[in-house]
Formats: sequence, structure tokens, C-alpha cells
Amino acid sequence: MRRVAVLTSGGDAPGMNACIRAIVRCASLKGLEVVGIKRGFAGLMSREVVKLGPREVSNILQLGGTFLGTSRCQEMFTPEGRQKAIGFLREEHVDGLITLGGDGTFRGAAALAAEGSVKVIGVPATIDNDVYGTDFSLGFDTALNTALESIDRIRDTAQSLERLFFVEVMGRTRGFIALHTGIASGADEILIPEVEMDIDGLCRALKQGYEIGKKSLIVLVAEGGTPGRTQAIAREVGQKTGLDYRVCILGHVQRGGSPTARDRLLASKLGLAAIEALLDGKSGQMVGEMGGQITLTPLEQSWQKEKEFDRGLLDLLKLLAT
Ligand code: F6P
Repeated sequence: MRRVAVLTSGGDAPGMNACIRAIVRCASLKGLEVVGIKRGFAGLMSREVVKLGPREVSNILQLGGTFLGTSRCQEMFTPEGRQKAIGFLREEHVDGLITLGGDGTFRGAAALAAEGSVKVIGVPATIDNDVYGTDFSLGFDTALNTALESIDRIRDTAQSLERLFFVEVMGRTRGFIALHTGIASGADEILIPEVEMDIDGLCRALKQGYEIGKKSLIVLVAEGGTPGRTQAIAREVGQKTGLDYRVCILGHVQRGGSPTARDRLLASKLGLAAIEALLDGKSGQMVGEMGGQITLTPLEQSWQKEKEFDRGLLDLLKLLAT
């Protein structure tokens, strides 16, 4: 192993820059050269590459987004696209590729690894935290804190006007962001894809909330694969209960911003782990952290196996919302 390439793909996540920094510096210390591929897999098609040394990654640790750029590249899912990518990596004398991203990124990465000529390691980086094989993915903790700050502000106005608010958070098809921010913000009700929706039950619970003396009500809704679905849910609840309500869709504000200490720490650990995995001759694996230990999981499992959902946290939310 002499030359390593790194790319970020799919939705950006806070902590990606911190991880690139760790990759570059750990690789340099071990005598490896590093290049960055611009704009994710799309940069492999358009041949956009930059040399990265320890000084090129100075002062990026604290920045949100990804300084390499990112994209969702459909061409990677065609045999021709993958051949183009492999051909370019070979011409650039790249022996190892590290890809930062989520589900879509790892599908592309696994297909490249299967071609056999370049070793490929994945690093989980998505605010959704929906990747099997790691307790937390890069960006999740920052997104939680960003969403939380907004929900706290909404609570101020909800409390002042004795109002019902529906707040939608991201998470793709999973409810991890909603569940964790739900507990941390003291949400009164939560709607997540992992639990079947019961609108009549929700209506009863909201009315009861006012009856027991609550001054404000916040229903946290996970986007559940359909961003904006909260509008229709709120309308139905409003019609059935007659309660006045407002809707706030937090959207992409959840994805940007400076990574939290926790995300920077995880990014640094996983950056080192990715370089060590390549030096150990590993390929087609994702580095992660489970129970405080660095782990390796076959890339395919990261999307084929479903990340477990902690029902205990849901029970806790309900218990505390009484
Ligand atoms: O995967 C990260 C994420 O922010 C999801 O939570 C969301 O569903 C999706 O990306 C939005 O994607 P885009 O930025 O392409 O609209």
C-alpha cells in the first residue's frame, strides 16, 4: 500500500472534514501518500483529484460540510461507470480507497471492492445514523444538537401561546434523529417509521395533554422517507380535534454546522481505523465503533442488516411525557 484516495459521497455530514484530516495525517505518518477525490464518485468519472498532505488539511477539523465536495452519482451503479472509476484509480496509482458516506456510498464502494484491483474501506458518515455496524455515524450527534436547539426555541413560543406544534426532523426512512431529540427536548408525542401511526390515538393523547394542564404540546415527526409528510398529518389532527396548530419542518439546517466534540472524536478515531484497516490488507469493510470498540463490518451488511431500534428509549420518552 503506497497511495490512498479519500472521497465523500451522498449527503454531507458534520465530521467529514475532521475524518479526512485524520486520514491524511495518519496516512502521512505511516509513509503513505494521499489524494482527495472531488465531488464523490462523480469526481472519479470526471477525474478531479487533489494531493493532500498534513498542511492541506489544516483548519478544517471544525468545519461542517465536506471541503472535497460530494454528490449522488448514478453512473457508479453501472458496470461502465465502475470500470471508468477503476481505470482512473489505476492510472493514479491508488491502491486503497476510503469512502465516507451512508447506504448509497457503501453500495458503490462494495461494487468497487468486488472488482478486486483497489482495496476499499468505508467510514459511516450520515446524520441519519441508519447504518448497521456502528453505534453512531459521523454527523448524527451534531444533527441532534442542531435540531434540539431549534426545538427548544419552538417550545418557547409554543409555551407562550399555549400552542400545539408539529416539528419534522430528517432521518430518511428511520426515526433515530426523532427518537433521540424527542427525549432530549421533552417532546410530548413522537411519530417514527418504526411504529405504526395511530392518528386517533394521537388526537386523544393531545387533548388529554391540555386536560392535565400542559401549556404547550410538541409532536416530533420523523420525515419517514417522505419529507413534508407532517403537513398532512397535522391537518388531519387539526380537523379531528379542532386544536389550533403550527407546523415547522427543520429540513437541511440539521445537516450543516460545525461538528460537536463527540463527532470530531469519532471522526478522528475512525480516520485512523480506516488507515489501519488498509495497512492490514482489509477491503470491502466498514470501520465503526460499537460498545466503545473499533469494529469492521462487511460493507454489504451495512445496508442489508437493519440497525436495531432501542424500544427502551421510546418507552422512556413516553414515561417522561406524562
Ligand atoms: O441522508 C441525509 C439526508 O439529510 C436525509 O435525512 C434526507 O432524507 C436526505 O438526506 C435529503 O437529501 P437531499 O439533500 O438530497 O434532499
